[in-house]
Amino acid sequence: MLILGIESSCDETAASVCEDCRKIRSSVISTQIEEHKKYGGVVPEIASRRHCENILGVTRQALDSAGVTLADIDGIAVTYAPGLIGALLVGVNFAKALAFASGKPLIPVHHIAGHIAANYITHSGLKPPYLCIVASGAHTHLIEVLDYTKFHVVGRTRDDAAGECFDKCARAMGFPYPGGVHIDKMAQNGDSSAFRLPRPHVAGSEFDFSFSGLKTTVVNMLHHAEQKGESVDKNNLSASIQHTIAGIITEKTILAAESLGYNKVALAGGVSANTGVRAELSQACAERGIEFFMPEIQLCGDNGAMIACHGSYNFLAGITADESLNAVATLSMDNI
Ligand code: KG4
Ligand code: ZN
Repeated sequence: MLILGIESSCDETAASVCEDCRKIRSSVISTQIEEHKKYGGVVPEIASRRHCENILGVTRQALDSAGVTLADIDGIAVTYAPGLIGALLVGVNFAKALAFASGKPLIPVHHIAGHIAANYITHSGLKPPYLCIVASGAHTHLIEVLDYTKFHVVGRTRDDAAGECFDKCARAMGFPYPGGVHIDKMAQNGDSSAFRLPRPHVAGSEFDFSFSGLKTTVVNMLHHAEQKGESVDKNNLSASIQHTIAGIITEKTILAAESLGYNKVALAGGVSANTGVRAELSQACAERGIEFFMPEIQLCGDNGAMIACHGSYNFLAGITADESLNAVATLSMDNI
């Protein structure tokens, strides 16, 4: 079974061909980061225009590198939610046209389910059920993965996502977009106990997250230092921010795993590339005898392979779409 996966929800145009769910025959990613850097974040209209220009070439390259043509493909999977609406529409309409022209089934993929599926590509033995913490630029979700295509969200951020917190703190420190990776690099040479930063408690739901207080504390601290003409050690501040975010993610994930009785935990989303998050969560799981899974670094950020992989499981479960498929900017995992 060969599935073509197409991703265009944010600032990466990506396509991939996947064989029998987990074997990646090709994966092509065209990133727009350099262009959005000039503006300090993703400019939605520019993202849509670049997807429009690149999507055909990226898809052709994915088919060519896999050594297949459209005729060999069993289904066309596409991210339809959530994300930037104009960006999603490019991928959805392109996939619909491909499905129409080739007569192949169209398979809708939820972007977060795609991030989770990145773990299946890296770990051939991983099977549901397990608990997954998904931390990306736009989402922080604790999800029960009940089956390959069945999810139950048990915790979510009340305000900023973990990646957004990394990026906004990084911007306040003067690092270019996306800043998470710069904090990660600076943190390698910093003292994580140098700054005491807030770890919020979310009233009402023990598995929910909140990162806006941490972001505001960091932004205010830098602002006050600047006003007083004082310098802030960016290595130490980066290490402290990273340790705090990793700590919040680890604490909530372990609490949920233990409360809900999971002995398998996975990490997913762009922030799963973070050295501190990977180390702290894997250590906490090891200490408690919980089996821990995380994607290889190349599969942490947005890519087509994870969409092709999850699309394969949707296809096997009979989840396909007709020509009325539309893009959806916001869609809970509970509703897919
Ligand atoms: O999943 P993703 O590629 O896009 C969304 O679906 O949002 O996640 C992007 C996020 C950005 O906020 C980026 O700064 C963050 O993941 N990120 C990192 C690292 N690499 C990517 N954050 C911290 N440390 C990293 N090494
Ligand atoms: Zn993503």
